[in-house]
Amino acid sequence: MSTIDSILSKRELTKEDIVILLEAEAEDKDKLYAKAAEVKEHYVGCKVYFRGLIEMSNYCRKNCFYCGIRSSNTNTERYNLTDEEVVEAAVLAWKNDYASIALQSGEKDTKEFVDRITMLLGKINRATKGGLGITLSMGEQTEDTYKRWFDNGAIRYLLRIEASNKELYAKLHPNNKAHDFDNRIECLRLLRRVGYQVGSGVMIGLPFQTLDNLAEDLLWIKSMDIDMVGMGPYVEHPDTPLYKYKDQLLPLEERFTLSLKMTAILRILMKDINIVAPTALQAIDKLGREKGLKVGANVIMPNITPGIYRDSYKLYNNKPCTDEAFDDSKSSLEASIRLTGDTIGYGEQGNSPHFKKRVD
Ligand code: 5AD
Ligand code: SF4
Repeated sequence: MSTIDSILSKRELTKEDIVILLEAEAEDKDKLYAKAAEVKEHYVGCKVYFRGLIEMSNYCRKNCFYCGIRSSNTNTERYNLTDEEVVEAAVLAWKNDYASIALQSGEKDTKEFVDRITMLLGKINRATKGGLGITLSMGEQTEDTYKRWFDNGAIRYLLRIEASNKELYAKLHPNNKAHDFDNRIECLRLLRRVGYQVGSGVMIGLPFQTLDNLAEDLLWIKSMDIDMVGMGPYVEHPDTPLYKYKDQLLPLEERFTLSLKMTAILRILMKDINIVAPTALQAIDKLGREKGLKVGANVIMPNITPGIYRDSYKLYNNKPCTDEAFDDSKSSLEASIRLTGDTIGYGEQGNSPHFKKRVD
């Protein structure tokens, strides 16, 4: 048996196995992808769930070194959707049978912000007769805040760890209390305790990041028993401090391939979770998300933010779809997903079997 065949037939993968898989080329890489597709079909089915993504506001109190909407970037035009715009976008998702939305915003910790999200959850639930699975992605908050939002109808929460290695994390963030690695981990624990389906993930192809780091990221995700994962390529943004390392990065196509391999390995490691094919894949390859679906991902987050604001939510360069109307995205997604052989789980909230097992 070849090395790849024997690794792919193991029940548990070690860090060393994962590094070998991350290095796989040519037919070895194809074998990895084929195995991931097989696991996906068997454990979660050939189905993709939509989460309509509403980028509510790009005001952020944080200053992550990689992110285009960091608070120190004065080249970004800041916006904040009105309550009506948020509710309208949610209703549009619901009427189009998206069944789930993800409300995302830059991080804020003011009472005003926390109250506003609480109120919006109520409004969205009333306007959609409780028919949407609501995901929040609003960064690090207190346990009380997480509870309030959960009690008001949010069921999932996304908080990427970005890099599970503490030293690498420190190179990507300012050294202060607002960017504390241990607090981020604590938040993930709190979210789980409160009862959310918890999502996390990392960026792939960061400066200073090694294949060992990436293998450890996957094992970390498994050790945290995460229910849903969104991870994608790092794409440098010129108005950020990390941009100065752009010449040390892997070429974009290699970051893309590495992201597909990470997705495939994760599917093999955690067979029944939800894995997002993130927009950052599409920033590099027009059919990037669909390629993600072919190697294990089963969730797509179509951007349903009202068009006039989309251009301002630029976490990274080349962000796609900023000039596409909602309907274009829906019909073009349908066409391209059809090519992958998956069907779209319209009207289904698509909770992962992993989470269901945990709560049953
Ligand atoms: N490249 C890729 N992903 C990025 N994010 C932020 N900046 C970048 C970038 N330059 C991701 C982070 C964050 C998510 C909302 O966007 O992982 O958690
Ligand atoms: Fe803010 Fe998130 Fe960007 Fe960090 S990654 S600056 S927390 S929006």
